[in-house]
Amino acid sequence: MTDRRRFLAASLAATAAATLPRDTHASPTKPAGRLRPRVVSTWDFGVAANKAAWQILGKGGSVLDAVEAGARVPEADPNNHSVGRAGYPDRDGRLTLDASIMDGNGDCGAVAAIEHIAHPISVARRVMEKTPHVLLVGDGALQFALEQDFPKEDLLTPESEQAWKEWLKKSEYKPSANSENKTYGAGKPGGAGNHDTLGLLAVDAQGRLAGACTTSGMAWKLHGRVGDSPIIGAGLYVDNEVGGATSTGVGEEVIRTAGSFLVVELMRQGRSPQQACEEAVKRIMRRRMKMDKDLQVGFLALSRAGEVGAYAIQKGFTYAVCDAGKQDTLFDSVSAL
Ligand code: GLY
Repeated sequence: MTDRRRFLAASLAATAAATLPRDTHASPTKPAGRLRPRVVSTWDFGVAANKAAWQILGKGGSVLDAVEAGARVPEADPNNHSVGRAGYPDRDGRLTLDASIMDGNGDCGAVAAIEHIAHPISVARRVMEKTPHVLLVGDGALQFALEQDFPKEDLLTPESEQAWKEWLKKSEYKPSANSENKTYGAGKPGGAGNHDTLGLLAVDAQGRLAGACTTSGMAWKLHGRVGDSPIIGAGLYVDNEVGGATSTGVGEEVIRTAGSFLVVELMRQGRSPQQACEEAVKRIMRRRMKMDKDLQVGFLALSRAGEVGAYAIQKGFTYAVCDAGKQDTLFDSVSAL
């Protein structure tokens, strides 16, 4: 059973500080001695994603295989309406998915607004490994996926179609924060699965990192809308010299600040993952909060030493941490409001 004990991020930082060798805190850019493999990911559904990733990472497997395996879990979940096959569709009733994957050595791949493919994260990996490109979109992404023998499926579930038909009655587009969080999102006005993302970061015992990010984007979005998740540097960024970051929430704001790149670069300059997430969120708040008081953006970061940071504008952003000590721990992020 999932361990639902929750802690403040501050207590996680304290735990990490107590369990990691001291030299790993000296500078995130310096190679550390003994490193601790760890997987972190966004939201409650991150617990199951982490477990799948740990099946690989815990046995000394490839960090890239681990993040792909983790991301495939919410993509396949019939009850997850913000990621993968059961995601809510766009304004026109079409389910379009976004995903990206990145290796800490700088290799990366992504797909945006892809239809009919249940596992966009695996197509993103093929883009990275089989093409000279980074990002394929729409029909081109689908064509490539079919050439790579991914099955073409009708993904819109009856439940998603029903929710879309309900939405059509008013056609009111209203992004809401934390739709995946049981306490803050579900059942709230406008909260019917609007936009929460699986972002997953992993580090192995050699300090090699990888990350994956996957989402169906904002429910009822304009057809063709692409969020931050498939944009390298916005929804995901990973660098073996420093660490990685990923984001959730309103993707437009994350793209405007190159958010995940910003978090990693702040870590490169010496900020802890926690400090870097806070600074990136506050930069967005300074620029955008006057326009939208309900705006939600959250960042999750992992240093190559295994330190974790998370910060969001609004309450309710949860993240899951998994390592050799514990596989199913869920934390409430510190938030600005
Ligand atoms: N953060 C996911 C999106 O805006 O699509």
